[in-house]
Amino acid sequence: MKLVFLGPPGAGKGTQAKRIAETYHIAHISTGDMLRAEMRAGTELGLAAKSLIEAGKLVPDDVIISMIESRIKQDDCRNGFLFDGFPRTVAQADALSGLCDIDYVVNIEVPSERLIHRACGRRICPECGASYHIDFYSGENCKECGAKLRQRDDDKEETVWNRIKVYEEQTAPLIAYYTERDKIVTVNGDQEIDDVTADIGKALK
Ligand code: AP5
Repeated sequence: MKLVFLGPPGAGKGTQAKRIAETYHIAHISTGDMLRAEMRAGTELGLAAKSLIEAGKLVPDDVIISMIESRIKQDDCRNGFLFDGFPRTVAQADALSGLCDIDYVVNIEVPSERLIHRACGRRICPECGASYHIDFYSGENCKECGAKLRQRDDDKEETVWNRIKVYEEQTAPLIAYYTERDKIVTVNGDQEIDDVTADIGKALK
């Protein structure tokens, strides 16, 4: 099974991707997580990506495509994979079609005002990458590893609005792109987390 999760910032792609990848025993590939890992490690790629990410802009297509080309060759991808946050431009989608055939593109829809609340209330663990929301967890430390939680640098309200604008300009055209190729299933992401998971499960069956 090869899946793409599409949706604006804060739509719940990461939350749902983790669950669905576990259910189908496929690799969860988040380009955002990969870039944040590079930033934490202080690599050249991470340093170059930092200012773009903090401004809510996209990292160049060639950088992302080459990351994906090497990632899908890894052993854990043999059974399939789920892309979370990739592709984000038509150029990335064209490159992906040269690498593999995608079974479904799950488009998660959520109104913009809800996205702001979700992203601004998110807290992440700088050590292990676990993600929480202040509505569901009010602790200051990560439940997995105990590190102090923090807000993502790109989760400040002004930056989230920029990310939504970039999504509408550069990523939303992929809905038409994949509709033309008969790959899209659309799910209402503006409901309880478990209900969104159930709807995705039904759509994939
Ligand atoms: P990335 O990390 O991919 O960010 P994003 O796409 O903007 O998505 P988010 O992580 O903000 O949200 P999400 O949809 O995963 O929601 P989540 O499940 O966390 O990318 C970051 C940056 O990296 C980009 O801006 C860009 O610069 C760069 N980048 C990454 N990929 C790239 C690419 N392919 N090309 C170029 N540049 C790239 O949920 C959000 C919050 O809401 C959480 O706190 C969660 O607990 C809560 N929540 C989730 N679902 C629900 C629900 N149903 N009800 C209530 N709360 C919920």
